[in-house]
Amino acid sequence: MRLLMQTEFRAIVHSEYGAPEKILKIAKRQLNSEELGADDVLVKVIARPIHPGDIQILSALPQGGPVEPIPEGTLRVPGFEGVGTIVRLGTNAKAAKRFSEGQRVAFFPAKGTWGEYVVVRHNCLLPVPDEISDHIAAQMLINTITASVLIKAGHNWLKAPITLPVYILQNAAASGVGRLLTQVALDRGVRPIRLVRSNQSAERLRSALPGPPVFSTSDSNWKKQVREALGGYKLEVAFDAIGGKAIDDLAEVIDDGGTIINFGSLGSNMGTNIYSLAPNNIALKSVSIMSWFRLTEDEKQKDFELALSLATNHPELFEVAHEYEFADFQKAIQHVSSPGKTGIVLLKSPI
Ligand SMILES: NC(=O)c1ccc[n+]([C@@H]2O[C@H](COP(=O)([O-])OP(=O)(O)OC[C@H]3O[C@@H](n4cnc5c(N)ncnc54)[C@H](OP(=O)(O)O)[C@@H]3O)[C@@H](O)[C@H]2O)c1
Repeated sequence: MRLLMQTEFRAIVHSEYGAPEKILKIAKRQLNSEELGADDVLVKVIARPIHPGDIQILSALPQGGPVEPIPEGTLRVPGFEGVGTIVRLGTNAKAAKRFSEGQRVAFFPAKGTWGEYVVVRHNCLLPVPDEISDHIAAQMLINTITASVLIKAGHNWLKAPITLPVYILQNAAASGVGRLLTQVALDRGVRPIRLVRSNQSAERLRSALPGPPVFSTSDSNWKKQVREALGGYKLEVAFDAIGGKAIDDLAEVIDDGGTIINFGSLGSNMGTNIYSLAPNNIALKSVSIMSWFRLTEDEKQKDFELALSLATNHPELFEVAHEYEFADFQKAIQHVSSPGKTGIVLLKSPI
């Protein structure tokens, strides 16, 4: 018979949606091991990332998607991924075969990773080998999965028969997802052309991740530079993480009948001109990580393996902007959208 366990822990919580500085606080929470379902695993979180999407969701910004109501008298804990150690396994025999207490794991999706402890379903856990640091394990799932979803969407929008070489164009290419998308594309023989918004960012990206061309959209002739880099080959797919006028700009360089795949709105939701799409018969497609949840367990496991392989072979893709103490979570949140940030912002657990 297993002993009943009661865990008291701290978590960043909110009871309503709004500006992070107004609604978030640290509160004590309680968890009884009786509440752990057969397929559940209790994990003590070591570190978790703060994604732009986490902030959009807790602020109830439209780009964060539909708002899930917080039932009266309850608290929501933000965060969907992280790294930690297994404290207790549910009774599921399959889980007991794959995992053991004390094991270090990465996890996604998990609800409430901005707490010291989180309950995760066993099929959302990934054992982390010793050679992958906490800094990388904490952030390797959401962004890799997004890059994987994007590359599949890009492939599906190429016109048959596919003629080589295949080029893609990506803006905000220095972002976490952007860097992974570049690497996944390269690993599949695709040739990425990268755009960033300043010469400073272009220099940083060229030296951190040399290889495919990088152009700054602050140069007035960047569209000409992109056409030259294509060397006469077609550009059928462009990825947009910015929104607004950035979409019009991509529409001017992409070939007739091409597709712009939007997956973020780092810039704004305003200013896209649909007249920019019609002259070249451009399709505008939106992609969300939510589509990943409809994949089979095998396909999801393949993306977990992709994350492990990228983390092992390309640790430089998972830069850390700064790791903050738990109590400094407001500073950490501010850092996420501060200009010049490269890499992910991490939040440690309290000691
Ligand atoms: N659709 C989905 O399911 C999904 C999933 C994950 C992420 N996303 C979205 O993907 C985007 C990137 O996320 P991330 O976590 O990879 O970002 P990130 O690592 O925080 O990087 C963002 C980078 O983009 C650049 N940037 C910021 N604002 C910009 C602007 N207005 N114009 C041009 N460049 C700008 C900045 O680089 P410089 O300062 O160097 O220029 C910044 O470092 C976000 O919009 C996020 O919401 C979507």
